[in-house]
Amino acid sequence: MSRPGDSYRNQVTKAASFISDICSNIPINAVQLGTGLGELTNRVEIEYEIPYEGIPWFPKSTVESHRGALLIGRLEGCRALILSGRFHYYEGYSTREITLPIRVLQLLGVKNLIITNAAGGLNPLFLPGTIMIIRDHLNFLGENPLRGPNVEDWGPRFPDFSEPYGPDLIKTALDSADHCRIDRVVTGTYACIPGPSLETPAETRWLRQCGADAVGMSSVPEVIIARHGSMRVLGLSLISNVNDPDNFQPILLEDIIAEGRRASARLQKLIVEFINRLDRGG
Ligand code: HPA
Repeated sequence: MSRPGDSYRNQVTKAASFISDICSNIPINAVQLGTGLGELTNRVEIEYEIPYEGIPWFPKSTVESHRGALLIGRLEGCRALILSGRFHYYEGYSTREITLPIRVLQLLGVKNLIITNAAGGLNPLFLPGTIMIIRDHLNFLGENPLRGPNVEDWGPRFPDFSEPYGPDLIKTALDSADHCRIDRVVTGTYACIPGPSLETPAETRWLRQCGADAVGMSSVPEVIIARHGSMRVLGLSLISNVNDPDNFQPILLEDIIAEGRRASARLQKLIVEFINRLDRGG
């Protein structure tokens, strides 16, 4: 007898077995790269490269700045699975569709997930190029990927979210930044809005009053699924622009991508040191 949620479960299972048939030794650490951060993949010694379009039930990327491939390889000697390119709510997908790759990682046995994104700064103390380690989030999508039938094997109906981002991982990331002398690393709260239109000055003021330090159009659905599936999550926002409601400047995609390029070496250093520490039991 089929149960509610079965067809989605089948899709996830199919995608996971497709990947495990290609690579039987999946790393326990994974990184999802956000807008403008694809540069990091140039430095990966690739063992396997699986384009998203070949993976059953993966959505199709409609955004040019997101390349769309699952890579397995070594980043400065550190073995990891990399999701290069993500799917967004603003592309028209449901949050369940967006997060299918994260469920697949859960089934493949990934334990630690580093989620990166480009974000607009709301905290006036931030500068472009700041790396914000996400401490907490606000979900303004109006949708939750766990809505609907719950697959009990994957996680509980009402997952606890008192610590969405593990304090131990936040500390490990801060220690990694310190050790590598990476400047402009802070912690803060990330607000996820649907997009694709960027914020107005009034929305910017309101988001800041809500307690957000940065704003973007991604990541929160993936974090919800990863935590539901008992993965440990580190969230990193690269602050590409800082939005002042009283002196609002246009926000341009070219600038967001350029800032991602400029920060990619610092971000890579942080990620590599962080994974090395995890592998040593940190
Ligand atoms: N707003 C929303 N998303 C973003 C921004 C922003 O200012 N910058 C980069 N991604």
